[in-house]
Amino acid sequence: MSPESTDSTKRAEWSRYGFVLAAIGSAVGLGNIWRFPYVVGENGGGAFLIPYIISFFCFGIPLMILEFTVGRGFRGSVVTAFGRLHPRLRHLGLLPFVMTLVVFSYYSVIAGWTLAYIIFSVTGYMDFKTFTSSPLPLITFFATILLAGTVVKVDLKDGIERANRYLMPMLALALLIMFVQALALPGVQAGLAYYLTPDLSVLSDPGIWVQAAGQVFFSLSIGFGVLLTYGSYLSDSAPIPRSAAVVAGADFLVALVAGVIIFPVVFSFGFDPVSGPQLAFITLPRIFSTMAFGSFFGALFFILLFVGALSSILSMVEGGVATMVDEWAWPRKKATYLVCTLAAVIGLPSALSYAGFNLTLFGAPFLDTVDLLFGILLVPVSASVICLAFSWLWNPESLLAEANKNSRFKFSRAAVYYLRYVVPLLLLVTLASTVAMTLL
Ligand code: PFF
Ligand code: NA
Repeated sequence: MSPESTDSTKRAEWSRYGFVLAAIGSAVGLGNIWRFPYVVGENGGGAFLIPYIISFFCFGIPLMILEFTVGRGFRGSVVTAFGRLHPRLRHLGLLPFVMTLVVFSYYSVIAGWTLAYIIFSVTGYMDFKTFTSSPLPLITFFATILLAGTVVKVDLKDGIERANRYLMPMLALALLIMFVQALALPGVQAGLAYYLTPDLSVLSDPGIWVQAAGQVFFSLSIGFGVLLTYGSYLSDSAPIPRSAAVVAGADFLVALVAGVIIFPVVFSFGFDPVSGPQLAFITLPRIFSTMAFGSFFGALFFILLFVGALSSILSMVEGGVATMVDEWAWPRKKATYLVCTLAAVIGLPSALSYAGFNLTLFGAPFLDTVDLLFGILLVPVSASVICLAFSWLWNPESLLAEANKNSRFKFSRAAVYYLRYVVPLLLLVTLASTVAMTLL
């Protein structure tokens, strides 16, 4: 039951900062810039931050540390790690593998929209309905997958690591410029008041807690095994607890700042802040087309979204590719072609579900239902499976030694018990309430 470290060929390793940049790239994405602000806006404003921060510390960061630790300890992607933990558990890794593939497919549809909107910011915006009924979203969907595949098929360092070395500074710069401009708008006070004034009465609504937990999982990329896979390329010299703190902190900061960017804009131009998912694709374009330097800020905003989405997609592709490379000894290129082709096929109904075909599943657009199933409902299941298996069956000394390697901060044995008992219990409660809220 101890990790195997006798691979015949040496496993690729991140260079210094490469890991943290790539993991931030995975975490920061549509979940932060597009989803977080409208979810906060719809759920009691600043009060939402309370359950968010509680979930973030109680199981977000612990599970992120666990995924990094398991990845480095077992030197393999998620199916391989389960197989090395116990041969009979290998198939458990298929759950996160499939989830990641499906999320990759519909996430690329939305990433494709943002790609089209970068162009629209210069040429003039198409009406959202007209756009989704045209063949354009299909083209940008395929283009996004192709672009991600082109990066991942090169080896780890010259592919994913190098791409993130360009993408992350771009993202930071775009975010900073938008942030400064938002603070200079006349609606900044009203916007920030709406975004951050806590309505504490909402805290008694279990739905808020469930939303917050789901948002933490999705935002931190936890439970999909992609952080585990990234951790499998981590050098022994990197301190895991500190890396996790940096990645989680960056994710939270970007989410907060995204709201500070969006709401002052919406209020300055007198639009409805509760327009939910449509905020980015219907409300904001209207504003960008009337404001001063609107094409510049519009382009910057959609570049921000696309860059964030692309770097997240890279981690999803790698999750699938690494599994095939580790399990079947496939060449990286061949694995990338298969993963991308699968996603292009699986994502077709999602890509078409907004196209006026009214492609629905359980009464909602196909994309939304698949997101609910694979991006929300299954996540606590898969996170529990990872947490239970590795905290109970991996011997605690090895787990702690791996997590504490070269770290000034050392976990004690209590951490193992926390993972064995407390986290699974919290996840069970989350899962039960999520199911109850969705069905009732
Ligand atoms: N964390 C990403 C976001 O917030 O947009 C989404 C994500 C990335 C989900 C990677 C799943 C995943 F495997
Ligand atoms: Na995120």
